[in-house]
Amino acid sequence: MKKIILFADPGIDDSVAIMYALLNPGIKVLAIVSSYGNVTKEQATDNIAYLLRLASRKDIPIIGGANSPSSGEIPRFYPEIHGEEGLGPIRPPMDVQGELTNFSELYNIIRMNQDVTVVDVGRNTSLAALFILGENITDVIKEFYIMGGAFLVPGNVTSSAEANFYGDPVASQVVVTNMDNIYIVPLNVTNKAIVTMEHINMIRKLTDNPLIQIMDEAMEYYIEAYKKLIPGINGAPLHDVLTLFLMVNPEMGSSIRRDVKILTAAEGRGTSIADFRVSSKPAEKNINIYLDFNYQGFIEDFIQVMSSTGNSRE
Ligand code: RIB
Ligand code: CA
Repeated sequence: MKKIILFADPGIDDSVAIMYALLNPGIKVLAIVSSYGNVTKEQATDNIAYLLRLASRKDIPIIGGANSPSSGEIPRFYPEIHGEEGLGPIRPPMDVQGELTNFSELYNIIRMNQDVTVVDVGRNTSLAALFILGENITDVIKEFYIMGGAFLVPGNVTSSAEANFYGDPVASQVVVTNMDNIYIVPLNVTNKAIVTMEHINMIRKLTDNPLIQIMDEAMEYYIEAYKKLIPGINGAPLHDVLTLFLMVNPEMGSSIRRDVKILTAAEGRGTSIADFRVSSKPAEKNINIYLDFNYQGFIEDFIQVMSSTGNSRE
């Protein structure tokens, strides 16, 4: 079982990723770090608290992450994809207000648990802060799974930049430079992790878990949003869920070991670069970019995990 700290900014695909992590018997969630990204940090925190309440998981702390990128600029949010409050048409009930645990608690959690995996499916500001504020902290973390980047394929915010790396490129560069055992899950693969309403309906028939009721409505919104963005698409990509799937099932994807750079300014802001020439050499450190995965295996696993009772009630 992998013990994870999940950095997220829910957002619909982040929310489905949180559900997937809570229900997956191969994952133990130690903490969730809430940050700005798809919505404000405050909204992200309430969304996480709502999901944890529905899953009856009072034991998982919500850690207060970043409010804005390290540049201090005001973040841009994406209501057209995730809804005004991040869960499509759903609003957490008024009495749900996430309580935050101080960021410094992360160091205790990491040191108290052996072999922690960090998964970041949002802007990388909080993860960079973990490194900047901590002493030798990255040496005690087993591995990092990062959803971000677009390598030689179009971006989703600019022609070349993906949203997570674009949101705080300086933080993303801090992460890829200073951490080791990194697995990047970019748009090259996540754009293909399409889940349709047929898949969701299949899951709905198999379970009456209240989390899945929320997923149903949120996914309907998310899929409609993607249909407007990409005419002809029959579902929507679950970027953040694929990242967790590959973290638990690394053999279901193929990756290449290369150094990664993220452009931090001007028109190239957020663009991720690696050398894929035949003559290029593997990175000295263990940094890997996923370029392919088993789609059928992903869908089967997604349906199975989401329709299980999992380990959500402890
Ligand atoms: O580019 C995809 C990423 O941006 C995902 O993490 C999604 O949640 C959005 O924020
Ligand atoms: Ca995300």
